[in-house]
Amino acid sequence: MKQLKLEIERVQSSFQTALMQSNSLEALEMTRVTFLGRKGEIAQLMPLLKDLSQDEKREFGPLLNVLKESSERAYFDKQTLLQNLEYEKAEESDKNFDVTAYKPGSVKGSLHLYTQATQRFEDIFISLGYTIADGPEVETEFYNFEALNIPENHPARDMQDTFFLKLPYMVLRTHTSPVQIRTMLTQKPPLAIASLGRVFRYEATDASHDFMFRQLEGLVVDKNISISQLLGTIRLFLGQFFEKDDLQVRARPGYFPFVEPGLEIDMSCPFCTKGCSTCSHTRWVEMGGAGLVHPRVLEHGGIDPKEYSGFAFGFGVTRLIMFKYRIHDIRLLHSADSEFLKQF
Ligand code: PHE
Repeated sequence: MKQLKLEIERVQSSFQTALMQSNSLEALEMTRVTFLGRKGEIAQLMPLLKDLSQDEKREFGPLLNVLKESSERAYFDKQTLLQNLEYEKAEESDKNFDVTAYKPGSVKGSLHLYTQATQRFEDIFISLGYTIADGPEVETEFYNFEALNIPENHPARDMQDTFFLKLPYMVLRTHTSPVQIRTMLTQKPPLAIASLGRVFRYEATDASHDFMFRQLEGLVVDKNISISQLLGTIRLFLGQFFEKDDLQVRARPGYFPFVEPGLEIDMSCPFCTKGCSTCSHTRWVEMGGAGLVHPRVLEHGGIDPKEYSGFAFGFGVTRLIMFKYRIHDIRLLHSADSEFLKQF
């Protein structure tokens, strides 16, 4: 009995010492487990009551309860105190955080190749007097197909494998050409726009294909627009992008329902004069499609084809970049691999 009383005093004083020495939340947690835990020192005193007489129980029961409750209270007070201290410390170090400080050897970010190329193309077209236009990536079938003279059930729809959405009549745009229609419906000729953005095709991924890539669209509508103006423009922006004054372009007949005549555009290989592995020893590389805007497309854009004509072109920005920087796998360009991307 005397024993129990001594035990209570011992536990109480060693708890107080431990509490006093708990100078961090971790240390405090250790103290809590040691004394207040389910198998802690205080809990272990409880079974001792069992062997006491009724009178003794009446005396020691409350004593033990007081010990338990006051210890818990002391523990919570100390916890609040430490939490506040820690909070103040964090606040203090936040206050001294200098966002402008120079950290030697820190890794600098850089613009992604897509951002760099987009800015470059936009600069080139703005310098030519073009406006930059934009359109949504989730597009209606009407703008992506019908208005561009690609009617339903026309085999040309299969030329571009489409992601159809659950939303009715909505697709992920398969090309940037719908921006042509959107522009004609909102701007009066004469007009000249360029538009860069992402397009999507339902295709298996390999070294040269991905389900997403980027295109560059151009559209000019005015009176008496000619193919020579189109080819001159293409030669100019490709020459600037590849930084080659003597870059040449050639046109071959091609089929795109929204242009007539339609052209496939090749450019002279910027890396050789006699043929190399990059141009498969042909000296020419295929870079995009173009043509004079089909009269029906002008009509869909609310423009009178008897009064106006236009040219349009569409180039693969992804392809242009891969070509310029000799990236052989599209998956590298589309990865988040900073070791790869930081080279550019
Ligand atoms: N939209 C066509 C494509 O993605 C490219 C193109 C644009 C061709 C404009 C002609 C004129 O294949």
